[in-house]
Amino acid sequence: MTVQTKDHKSVSISLLAIDKLPALVNYLDKLSQATRRRFEPHSFDSQSVTNFYQDANHRAYIAESVDEPEIVAYFIIKRGFLPKEAERLESYGLQLSAETDCTFAPSVADAWQSSGVGNLLFRMVLNELQTEPFERMILWGGVQSSNERAIRFYEKYGFRELGYFEHNGIGNYDMIKELKAFA
Ligand SMILES: CC(C)(COP(=O)(O)OP(=O)(O)OC[C@H]1O[C@@H](n2cnc3c(N)ncnc32)[C@H](O)[C@@H]1OP(=O)(O)O)[C@@H](O)C(=O)NCCC(=O)NCCS
Repeated sequence: MTVQTKDHKSVSISLLAIDKLPALVNYLDKLSQATRRRFEPHSFDSQSVTNFYQDANHRAYIAESVDEPEIVAYFIIKRGFLPKEAERLESYGLQLSAETDCTFAPSVADAWQSSGVGNLLFRMVLNELQTEPFERMILWGGVQSSNERAIRFYEKYGFRELGYFEHNGIGNYDMIKELKAFA
């Protein structure tokens, strides 16, 4: 599917296919340190990326620039929840489900942030998930409390805060979205 950003650039949106993994590694390589500090669901080297997509619970949706053949946004969806986060998530009273929960981690290339790509790609992801048994979407590792842009993004789409935690001295919020509430 091809769509237009706010500044009239065309991007093509699709499910990440295995033959795009080299382009994905290239995308990850180019992310600034500031973006990397906020988006770290997996390591960014080629082997780690390949290993990550050998897990059938992992998939991603990408936006590619039509003018220059490069990935400009990368949104990961994991079926279920992260086992290492289960205890913390359950402390909020959640009953986690490997089948009806999914876990979400988004990133947009630095030069493309705030130009509407996140909106375009996330709407597509939500549409895709409507036909699946997922009922809730949990943030992968939460969102850093200093990451105002991402918090706005999540609030816009109806994520609600579950609680606060610190990781390596950095404050984070866990957030969750009810998927069946999306119309
Ligand atoms: C967070 C992120 C995914 C949002 O994607 P994006 O393409 O930049 O966002 P969009 O331009 O599509 O804007 C979508 C919404 O995000 C929020 N937003 C975007 N840019 C913003 C800014 N500069 N200030 C405040 N809110 C902003 C707004 O709610 C906006 O809604 P609107 O279009 O109705 O104004 C992207 O900026 C990103 O990858 N950031 C770095 C990595 C990161 O923080 N990932 C999340 C880790 S938890």
